[in-house]
Amino acid sequence: MSKKDWDAQQYKEHSEPQQEGGQAIIAHYPFRGDEVVLDIGCGDGRTTAEIAAKLPDGNVIGIDPSPAMITEAQKSFLSVQNLSFIQASAEDFAFDFQFDLIVSFFALHYVVDHQTVLKKIYSALKPGGVFIVVMAGGDQPEVAEVFAREKWKALISEQEMVWGAKTEGEYRPLLEQGGFEIIETVTQSASRLYDSKEDLLNWALVWVPYVTGLDEEKSLQFSQEIVENIAKGQKGAIKSTSPLLYVKAQKL
Ligand SMILES: C[S@@+](CC[C@H](N)C(=O)[O-])C[C@H]1O[C@@H](n2cnc3c(N)ncnc32)[C@H](O)[C@@H]1O
Repeated sequence: MSKKDWDAQQYKEHSEPQQEGGQAIIAHYPFRGDEVVLDIGCGDGRTTAEIAAKLPDGNVIGIDPSPAMITEAQKSFLSVQNLSFIQASAEDFAFDFQFDLIVSFFALHYVVDHQTVLKKIYSALKPGGVFIVVMAGGDQPEVAEVFAREKWKALISEQEMVWGAKTEGEYRPLLEQGGFEIIETVTQSASRLYDSKEDLLNWALVWVPYVTGLDEEKSLQFSQEIVENIAKGQKGAIKSTSPLLYVKAQKL
C-alpha cells in the first residue's frame, strides 16, 4: 500500500484550528526581528508567512515532506522575500547554518522516531536557540477506539501507521535526553465545535489517508466511523475534544 500525499487544497479549506493555534503563538512570541527561523512541517505555509512578517531583518524557511504542500506554499508566497520552502522531513533536513528559533505546529505527531528528530533539531539550533512545538498530546479516545476495531487492525499494518503523538510525560524525558532545557510544557484539552457531520468528516479526511495508508474508499469508511463515534449521543453542533501538547525548550 503506498502512502498518499496530502491534499493541500482540502487542508487549506479545513485547517482553521491549526491556523489559529500556530498564529496565536507567533503573535505573542517576542521576536527581535532579525532571527533565522525554521518551521518544520510547514504545510501550506500560512503560519510560516506569519513568521516572515515578524522578521524585517531575518528570514524563515518552511520544510515539509509533502510535495503537494510545498508546491502550494511556494505558489502562495512567491513574492515574500524573506520566506522560502523546501521539501524535507523532520527526519532528513540538513542546513549548513544554525537557527535562532525552530517551530513546529501540528506536525511532529507524524514523527515515529522522536529521539532522532530531537537530536537533529538540537544540533540545528544556535546556542541559546529556542524550540517551540505544538502537537497531539496523546490520542483522542473516540479515534483510538476506531483504530482498535479488529477489521481496521487487520487492514492497517503497524509499519504503515504514521502516528507518534506523545503525552507531556512521555515527551519531557525525550527532550531532556536530547539535551534541551525545558522552559514550559502545557497539555490542553482542545475542543472544537463542528456544525455538521460533514464538517467533521472533512477534518478526518484531511489526515486519515496519510496516517493509515488506506486507499480512498477505505479512508472514507474509516473516517465515517470516526465521525459516528465522536458524534454519538450529541445533538446539534458536534464537539470534538483531543489533547494538545505545547512545548517551549531551549538549547543552552
Ligand atoms: C496538519 S499539517 C500542519 C501544517 C502547518 N504546520 C499548520 O500548522 O498549518 C501537518 C503537516 O505535517 C507534515 N508532516 C508529516 N510528516 C512529517 C515529518 N515526518 N516531518 C515533517 N513534517 C511532516 C505534513 O506533510 C503536513 O503538511
